Order: sequence, then structure tokens, then C-alpha cells
Amino acid sequence: MPVQLIDPHGRTVRDLRISITDRCNFRCTYCMPHEGMQWLPRDEILSYEEIERVARVCVERYGFGSIRLTGGEPTVRAHLPVLVSRLAALGVDLSMTTNGATLGLSAADLHRAGLRRINISLDSLRPERFTTITGRDALDKVLAGIDAAVEAGFEPVKVNCVVVRGVNDDEIQDFAGFGRDKGVEVRFIEWMPLDGDGQWSSAQVVPAREILETVAARWPLAPVERGSAPAERFAYADGAGHIGVIGSVTQPFCATCDRVRLTAEGQLRNCLFAVRETDLRQVLRSGGSDDDLAAAIEAEVGRKWAGHSIGKVQFIRPARSMSQIGG
Ligand code: 5AD
Ligand code: SF4
Repeated sequence: MPVQLIDPHGRTVRDLRISITDRCNFRCTYCMPHEGMQWLPRDEILSYEEIERVARVCVERYGFGSIRLTGGEPTVRAHLPVLVSRLAALGVDLSMTTNGATLGLSAADLHRAGLRRINISLDSLRPERFTTITGRDALDKVLAGIDAAVEAGFEPVKVNCVVVRGVNDDEIQDFAGFGRDKGVEVRFIEWMPLDGDGQWSSAQVVPAREILETVAARWPLAPVERGSAPAERFAYADGAGHIGVIGSVTQPFCATCDRVRLTAEGQLRNCLFAVRETDLRQVLRSGGSDDDLAAAIEAEVGRKWAGHSIGKVQFIRPARSMSQIGG
């Protein structure tokens, strides 16, 4: 029987987010440095076998219930369906966050391999603006990717939109309309200080409240009960689906955080904003047993913070940008 992994603040940790590559085919300005991104050499990245081993220990020993694959961009990694089918066999709720650009080619294979839930990042519905934000002229591809995900049977398909003041905050209603039309759930996310170039400023954070008021001014909303998920969910009063808002900065959900994160090179992080990590790759590659891995995981969870302190004097920006952590 698995035992629960409980952190010093009484939270049960049961959600693993795995960055399977630090590489990305996009260059989103709010996520990674615009230039000079150095990719990790191939042999520094965990193999699928190594990833599966860490996941298995989390699931079998500690009863983890969910695993999310992230990047960089997870779909740039070769033979992704192979990893998906191995992780799906663990019997967890398996999901992935992707920029969607290649889903037109891969959505059906990923679904067949056992992936059921997918989040697609999309921050502008306007072609030129999309290109400015992501550094790629690929809006059409991402839109086709969203259609392909719906077509392949993913349920739900969610669209993640990071709202940045002066960049895309005039598209909030457009995004809501897009979600209603396509039958996908749009989730608006407050911009966090995890960009690569240190451009973040609190003045550019559009508060979740304001986002909701903007949507509700056009389509009235009713709250839906919130679980441990970071998104606060709302239903359209007319029954046309749901939206979510993730108030990471103005309404931190740290108190119910149940996650740990594994970076592409095998560092375990107990918080998005962690400034130290536990090296699981070293355990894996020095012949460590499952007991050794478990001990390292427990030690990292044992240091889990109560929460981040964005906006307070003691806040320290982590050295990694979002693209190296995986969101
Ligand atoms: N703040 C908030 N969300 C971010 N993402 C990337 N960078 C940031 C940031 N600085 C989002 C992406 C993606 C998810 C992995 O995290 O849009 O949906
Ligand atoms: Fe790549 Fe996603 Fe970061 Fe954009 S947000 S650069 S798609 S990892």
C-alpha cells in the first residue's frame, strides 16, 4: 500500500510535473530569454527509462494520482508516445502542456498512447501579435493543433492564456468567445516573474479579478466549486461551457499546493519558485536503489515551502526561467 507523502505544512503531495526537455521551438517573451538560450546536451537529459523510474516510485510508494508532461516543449522530444504509454500504464491521470504547434501531426498518436487531457498555450488570436510574442509565425498551426486535439478525443482540451498588461489584455473577451465557439476551456493565467530576461513587473500583471469582470461584462458567470486545482473555475450562465482564472500572483493557491516538479536534467523542485533542488539524476546514474530515490524525494518534500513571496522583500527570483522549469 502506498503511504502519503505529507510536507511540513500538512499538504499531501501527489502531483508530479515532469519537464521532459528544456528545448522549445518557440521563444515566448514571458517565458525564456529572447537570445542566448543554451540547450542542455542530450546525455544530461533524463532518458525515458529514468523518467519512468522516478514516476513509478512516486506512484507506487506515495500514491501520486497525477502526472503532467511539460517542457520546454514536450512534443519536440522524439518518440513521445512511447513515454506516454509507459506512464499511462501506471494508472495515473496523465496530462500534457504543449504549445500545440505540432499537434496537428501527433494528437491522434498521443491519444492512442493513453494521453487523455491536454493544455495548449495560446496568448494571442492575432497573427502578428502571436508572432511577436512567440517569435514564430505559427498561429495557424496552433489553431489547427487545437482542432486536432478536439478531433482526437482529448477531454478536456484547455487553452492557457498568460495575460500581460499592454501586450494582450485587450483580447480577454476574444479569448472567451473563442473558447465558447470551440468548446474548449480557456484558462487565463497571471504573469509570474519567471521570464528569462527579468522584464516582469507587477504593473504588468492583470489581476484575476479584472479578467473575470471583463469576461462577465459580456457573458455572465457563476462560480464552480474549487478543488485543489490552481484554477478558479466559472460556468457561463447561459451554459456555453467554463473558464478558469489562475491568480498565481494576486491570489496565490500555495496553501493547497500538492505538487513537485522534475526538471529535464532530473532535479526535483518543491516549488515553482524554489532556489534549491534535489539531484535525482545523480541517484539514478550512480546505481541508486528505489529506496535511495524515495529517500531523496522525501527529503525534497520535507523542505517544501509554505508558499511563494512574490511582491515581498524576501522574494528571490529563481535562476531558471519558466521554460527550464516547465510550468
Ligand atoms: N507566467 C505565467 N505563466 C507562464 N507560462 C510560461 N511562462 C509564464 C510566466 N512567466 C505558461 C505557459 C504555459 C505554461 C507551461 O506556463 O503559457 O501555458
Ligand atoms: Fe516554449 Fe511554452 Fe515557453 Fe512558449 S511558453 S517559449 S511555447 S516553453
